[in-house]
Amino acid sequence: MKYQDYLFSVAPMMDWTDRHCRVFHRHLSRRALLYTEMLTTGAVIHGDRERLLGFDALEHPVALQLGGSDPRQLAQAARIGQHFGYDEINLNVGCPSDRVKDGRFGACLMAEPQLVAACVEAMKRAVAIPVTVKCRIGIDDQDPEPALDALARAVVASGCDALIVHARKAWLDGLSPKQNRDIPPLDYDRVYRLKHAMPDVTVIINGGIGGVDEARAHLSHVDGVMLGRAAYQEPWRLLAVDPDVFGEAAPHATMQDALEAMMPYIEEQLARGTRLHAITRHFVGAFHAVPGARAFRRHLAEQGTKPGAGTGVLRDAIARVGARAPAEAAA
Ligand SMILES: Cc1cc2nc3c(=O)[nH]c(=O)nc-3n(C[C@H](O)[C@H](O)[C@H](O)COP(=O)(O)O)c2cc1C
Repeated sequence: MKYQDYLFSVAPMMDWTDRHCRVFHRHLSRRALLYTEMLTTGAVIHGDRERLLGFDALEHPVALQLGGSDPRQLAQAARIGQHFGYDEINLNVGCPSDRVKDGRFGACLMAEPQLVAACVEAMKRAVAIPVTVKCRIGIDDQDPEPALDALARAVVASGCDALIVHARKAWLDGLSPKQNRDIPPLDYDRVYRLKHAMPDVTVIINGGIGGVDEARAHLSHVDGVMLGRAAYQEPWRLLAVDPDVFGEAAPHATMQDALEAMMPYIEEQLARGTRLHAITRHFVGAFHAVPGARAFRRHLAEQGTKPGAGTGVLRDAIARVGARAPAEAAA
């Protein structure tokens, strides 16, 4: 991928960034790079691939995030991902949950740079698309200075195309995954220093970035910014990405227009048996702080979950939103 493609991305988030969410985000930014939820190598190799990996062509550019630590299985899963048409394969070296720890992947791999390097090398051999790593600045009692350098050097030597760094440690004992996204302190300077020390490496910063203005400020230190919760919980922020980060027009002037543009996709999904709520659940924060937002949410929650609910429910919910607020008004 070209350098520009990494400027802004939406983070991989389990249960959140599924295919419907990504289509929604794509209607808010043409340029943001979108990540799937993490899929384990076991799921990709042995699971129902179409259900797990299938996505809509309009989601491009879209990256598949894998969880695993067996180079051969990762290579096989990466190959399958490339075959499905993903634009990038990303390896999760940041997730702290017990399930992930027991499987010896995710954040605990921060302690095993050579194994991560072997994984990256195997995936690079298997596919022609970029292979990237998403990591933390360290785990537990690691010193983030040598720990992050060691991981970065090892994976870059194996051909890793970009490093996404969640700018806080993961504490593997005693904190839940949710606490591990909030409690270990953020250290953006550590990520800036990585970029400074390895200027040829594409470094993307992640963690606690509240919106597009904050994202732009990071871009004077690193090559790209990844937003997670701010993008999902307040998706209207994404309408500012194309104009403010890429200097291009947003795909739609307003959230209402973006949702209206999703109707054909929703109709097609309903015809395939998808329930309306599986799609509209991602719209909860669409009208954050706009008059009528609560009525919009309530209508979707009450009517959108009923069997047979169709696009009429979404149209009625949109009609409950007051002014046709442009993105700036929502901000
Ligand atoms: C609900 C949820 C699920 C997540 N799932 C994943 C995941 O599957 N893979 C991953 O690398 N990170 C996952 N994360 C972490 C995010 O990708 C991101 O690193 C983290 O939320 C910090 O960024 P933020 O402060 O912008 O949200 C998840 C975060 C949330 C909130």
